[in-house]
Amino acid sequence: MARILITSALPYINGVKHLGNLVGSQLPADVYARYMRARGHEVMFICATDEHGTPAELAAARAGKPVAEYCAEMHAVQKRLADGFGLSFDHFGRSSSARNHALTQHMARRLGEAGLIEVRTERQVYSVADGRFLPDRYIEGTCPNCGFERARGDQCEMCTKQLDPTDLINPRSAISGSTDLEVRETRHLYLRQSLLRDRLEAWIDSKTDWPVLTTSIARKWLRDGDGLQDRGITRDLEWGVPAQFPGAPWSGMEGKVFYVWFDAPIEYIAATAEWADAHGHPDAAWQRWWREDLGAGDVRYVQFMGKDNVPFHTLSFPATLMGANHDGTEPWKLVDYIKSFNWLTYEGGKFSTSQGRGVFMDQALEILPSDCWRWWLLANAPESGDADFTWTSFQSALNRDLADVLGNFVSRVTKFCSARFGEAVPAGGAWTEAEHGLARALDQRLAAYGALMEAMEIRKSAAELRAIWALGNEYLQAAAPWSAFKTDRDRAACIIRVALNLVRLNAVLSAPFIPATAQRILSALGCPDAGWPGAAAEALAALPPGSAFRVPENLFEKLSDARRAELEARFAGG
Ligand code: 2FM
Ligand code: ZN
Repeated sequence: MARILITSALPYINGVKHLGNLVGSQLPADVYARYMRARGHEVMFICATDEHGTPAELAAARAGKPVAEYCAEMHAVQKRLADGFGLSFDHFGRSSSARNHALTQHMARRLGEAGLIEVRTERQVYSVADGRFLPDRYIEGTCPNCGFERARGDQCEMCTKQLDPTDLINPRSAISGSTDLEVRETRHLYLRQSLLRDRLEAWIDSKTDWPVLTTSIARKWLRDGDGLQDRGITRDLEWGVPAQFPGAPWSGMEGKVFYVWFDAPIEYIAATAEWADAHGHPDAAWQRWWREDLGAGDVRYVQFMGKDNVPFHTLSFPATLMGANHDGTEPWKLVDYIKSFNWLTYEGGKFSTSQGRGVFMDQALEILPSDCWRWWLLANAPESGDADFTWTSFQSALNRDLADVLGNFVSRVTKFCSARFGEAVPAGGAWTEAEHGLARALDQRLAAYGALMEAMEIRKSAAELRAIWALGNEYLQAAAPWSAFKTDRDRAACIIRVALNLVRLNAVLSAPFIPATAQRILSALGCPDAGWPGAAAEALAALPPGSAFRVPENLFEKLSDARRAELEARFAGG
């Protein structure tokens, strides 16, 4: 049994996330966490809302609420939606928690003591009309790199280049739109990550098993020096982790807070501490996941994220953790594997809140059960390249894979048994070559499925799972228990017994992808806690003759053409 720490990129607090956000980190992380738990490993699966920074302040201002109140409300909303989608976090924390305040300040103090943080006087954009500095997203303008006209002060959404507000061409205030801006001097803390370049480079070079998408982004940033420039890690904002605190090795930072990208990844650790607090565990309980000297030496740490987050997770966050361990007394756990995703587009374009284009998490759950969305999103996860959500593709995945292949198999088998033998697994008959052949085919597919899941190949795992579902229908079609029943009742009983066991096996194997449906099937079969299968032959005999079941309600409702057209129109935007 291994110990596996899994984190999903933290969703920003500002608003309900769309399906593309969901499939870019939280959902695949959940599949992996569920799979690893099912295999008997000890899993800690952590997520939280990312609550600081200008996006939170701007959204609160738009909602006309104090930012703390806005964040508390939105956290509850996101928590409810995460539950609705079956995301099985061990803890869904908040980056504004007391734990994160304390840990962020602790890390900063350690970095300061190591000489890795220094105070610099910098030139910042000040809005005369707004009477304040304009950090990050409080300023917009044209990207000097690609010419995108709505680039933000911290990063260009189009070309992903990290920016400083003073880099923008034709800058304007995102608060008032004012262009009456001047550059004024102000003092900020800088993280001297460039001093850690060699260590970071050696560390990334050692990650020979990382996906190319991850390492190519990390290497590009290392090479260009873009990601490793010393960066300002404080901002003139009110909401955030105060940069001046008792014991800080600097002065004069009153009224400033740490930059959101400094405290957000630290929340992975702090949220684990929040988990310990919530369960009344001592500090040792979370430290054994995060401190190599306190038990995390054998932990495997896997992170899930969209590709835009890769630089922060391959460079800045590791720099924070390495720097905090400058004297070897705080060996924080560094990530072992980063699984990153491309973008999901919506009907060929972008999701857009303002234009009402695309489906957001709350809307999705109002329309159809979460497993329908989970299945399409995971089977089409943007792994090797971007993926596009279309209603046609969604309808076909729902109607064919879920309803025709899986749902139909479960329904045919349970209904036939109920009608001919009653609601208990029938006895009689012995395996023939058909059953042995099925078990051999299943063994092969089970091995392939397991290997793909270990490798976090989400799309390919889904395809393998679908092929396993299809084996059931093929077997049933060839063995034809309805004909056998007329001439050889024992033969029909044997087929149905095997098929009922295959229903159970399908549910167990499908649980990481469609957990609610899997649970419904397993409850109907009277075995809610079924474990992961070993050999197929054994799994096909797990439900002994005589064990009672009931016919589950129709598992999946098909999506009609008319309803599809209606939904297409509703979410087209504009
Ligand atoms: O890109 C985003 O949505 C960020 N909120 C991700 C933060 S991940 C972590 F480091 F906190
Ligand atoms: Zn750009």
